[in-house]
Amino acid sequence: MDPEQLYDEQAGRWRRREPNSLSDFTGRPAVFELCGDVSGLEVLDVGCGEGYCARELKGRGAGRTLGIELSSEMVELARTQERELGQGIEYRQGDVRQLDVEASSFDLVIAVFVFNYLSADDTTQALRQMRRALRPGGAAVFAVPHPAFPFMRDPAPPFFFDFSGRGYFSARDVRNEGEIHCLDGTQLGVQMVHKTFEDYFGCLRDAGFQSLPELRELRVRPEHLDQHPDFMGPLVDLPLHLAFRILKE
Ligand SMILES: C[S@@+](CC[C@H](N)C(=O)[O-])C[C@H]1O[C@@H](n2cnc3c(N)ncnc32)[C@H](O)[C@@H]1O
Repeated sequence: MDPEQLYDEQAGRWRRREPNSLSDFTGRPAVFELCGDVSGLEVLDVGCGEGYCARELKGRGAGRTLGIELSSEMVELARTQERELGQGIEYRQGDVRQLDVEASSFDLVIAVFVFNYLSADDTTQALRQMRRALRPGGAAVFAVPHPAFPFMRDPAPPFFFDFSGRGYFSARDVRNEGEIHCLDGTQLGVQMVHKTFEDYFGCLRDAGFQSLPELRELRVRPEHLDQHPDFMGPLVDLPLHLAFRILKE
């Protein structure tokens, strides 16, 4: 299934105001930390979904905030929440591979669990577009599933991708289906077009980034386990996600 259809069909299940999915605990807080002080920054959130991250950054003081998202149902959900909350976030339907925004017009561009829907070549293209949108000195911050995770645990809740026996290299650029569970029992269908560590660094280089990224390997932390032992327990000590922050020179 292509990502647009996947997200059109399950949009309602993504709506949330509080942390609910696994990565709302183990992934997104680290992304917000890597964004640093966003006061007054102009922020672009690509693959923004129903707006969870855009709302958080706006709440932390971001200036103009624009969300761009492939699925029309997700855009509609984001706009509905904007109408309810009145934070002043703009949402548009669009594709991260072809961003219709002015060059050098944002201080921060984020892509949270979006590149797992793209091939390595399309990820390079998306990063090139994100870099183009940034002002010099601006930062790109993105999170993806950890490329080693599917090879370290059999597919089982609360988080998995089914690689059907493929290996770390032979699974490259293959679209694999997965599931991510939420605290409230909701199950979300997700996908992972597998890319290796080498791919991610190659994509950044080919997109024109010249500095070294700051890289975090994200995991279940003791505080997650204290709060939700049954939910988090099966994933302790596994590399779940990667988060990158890289500057446009
Ligand atoms: C896992 S969701 C994450 C949504 C949001 N970033 C968040 O953290 O809550 C991935 C989102 O990426 C969107 N997406 C996938 N491919 C895209 C593309 N080429 N351009 C823009 N958005 C895309 C999907 O429609 C989906 O809403």
